[in-house]
Amino acid sequence: MSPMKVFGHPMLTNVARVLLFLEEVGAEYELVPVDFVAGEHKKPQHLQLNPFGKMPGFQDGDLVLFESRAIGKYIIRKYGGTAGLDLLGENSGIEGSAMVDLWTEVEAQEYYPAIAPVVFECIINPFIMGDAETNQSVVDESLVRLRGVLGIYEARLEKSSYLAGDSISFADLNHIPFTFYFMTTQYASVFDEYPKVKAWWEAIMARPAVQRVCKNMPTQFSVGMRAAF
Ligand SMILES: *[C@@H]1O[C@H](CO)[C@@H](O)[C@H](O)[C@H]1NC(C)=O
Repeated sequence: MSPMKVFGHPMLTNVARVLLFLEEVGAEYELVPVDFVAGEHKKPQHLQLNPFGKMPGFQDGDLVLFESRAIGKYIIRKYGGTAGLDLLGENSGIEGSAMVDLWTEVEAQEYYPAIAPVVFECIINPFIMGDAETNQSVVDESLVRLRGVLGIYEARLEKSSYLAGDSISFADLNHIPFTFYFMTTQYASVFDEYPKVKAWWEAIMARPAVQRVCKNMPTQFSVGMRAAF
């Protein structure tokens, strides 16, 4: 059987998210490059995989999926068991799954909206638009919001090693792509104010699967590097 295919560039947050789950479960896969600088993701071939013209595209035999969190769950349900990982909390009954669902929603509804604008202002927009200036008021407002969220995480992580309980889950892993890029900005030290959160992040980053994905995510950006894709 041919391996699962991921279509996209590994530096992109949603592509990295899918690669994280593939690496965690140890599944075989093929990464098919999509030249986003040339706009290949808006062309018919890619639109057949992802009608929204976004990355990644994903294919497993006849099954075509998009939306990185949904792809991640598929990968976990298909391979997580054999890898001995219970990333969706399903071995702990509906209560276990509920905790994973809860913190997965927190990531999407509270954490992401707080951290993403900083990453967009400091990294993604300047990278895509060349000379875009950072809107400092957007950054400052987001940091206030992020500190509020991290305070809640700190209290949670005083009770358990990971967000949904004492083992790593889908919810924790979903934090990686944007947090990784946030940590390359001058605002990374915000995490030092929250020791439990900092320790949680360090435990996540120490995972070999996570390191294999993050080594393809740049820590410095320049407009010139766009030519490399
Ligand atoms: C910066 O963002 C704020 C919203 O927080 C907006 O009101 C303002 O117009 C933006 N400034 C620039 C220069 O785009």
